[in-house]
Amino acid sequence: MKFFVDTADVDEIRDLAATGMVDGATTNPSLVAKTGRDFFEVLREICDIVDGPVSAEVTATEHEAMTAEGRKLAAFADNIAVKLPMTWDGLKTCRVLSQSGIQVNVTLCFSANQALLAAKAGAAFISPFIGRLDDAGHDGMELISDIVAIYDNYDFDTEVLVASVRTANHVKDAAKIGADVCTLPPGVLRSLIGHPLTDKGLAAFLADWEKTGQSILKAEDGT
Ligand code: G3P
Repeated sequence: MKFFVDTADVDEIRDLAATGMVDGATTNPSLVAKTGRDFFEVLREICDIVDGPVSAEVTATEHEAMTAEGRKLAAFADNIAVKLPMTWDGLKTCRVLSQSGIQVNVTLCFSANQALLAAKAGAAFISPFIGRLDDAGHDGMELISDIVAIYDNYDFDTEVLVASVRTANHVKDAAKIGADVCTLPPGVLRSLIGHPLTDKGLAAFLADWEKTGQSILKAEDGT
């Protein structure tokens, strides 16, 4: 499973990229607004840090304007994936941009039929928002199962990019289903390593080692 980071916070992206766990990044207008920074300045920095796809979202809502914005974003860096909303104008734009070789991420997906439409429009990624479905009393992970099954049935190349992820369990469950990508808020990505028995075990190893009074770097081992 690929991990993307779901943030426009460049310091967080840089820090996490150093772990080797970051295969791409996703942004949206809300995440950019949260930084209080210039959109293209932020985008430049993210594209310089992350080798994989960096999703940047259009803000136009009508096909012609969406296409123009999408082309501008795609020309900005080689690794841009143009993010388009799940509307008929978005799907028309997805078709046009995809046919000209631009990677498109169709966002704000909340149903399996919407995911089917995006795949038929040639999207490189579909972004089902599982956390928002859970918040509304539905089962977000059931949607991921449905989309993975449908895409398998018809051999669609569109990758399932699990979005609106809230917990480490979301990541595990999406990986069990075989989703292609999870886009993770930095806090969720960091939480994946946590286990109390790891902490307890390490503390015991270090305490026992300290009792020996030895030091690996200061050891007289001839090196
Ligand atoms: O990038 C879009 C998505 O992941 C949004 O998540 O937490 O705002 O529902 P959230």
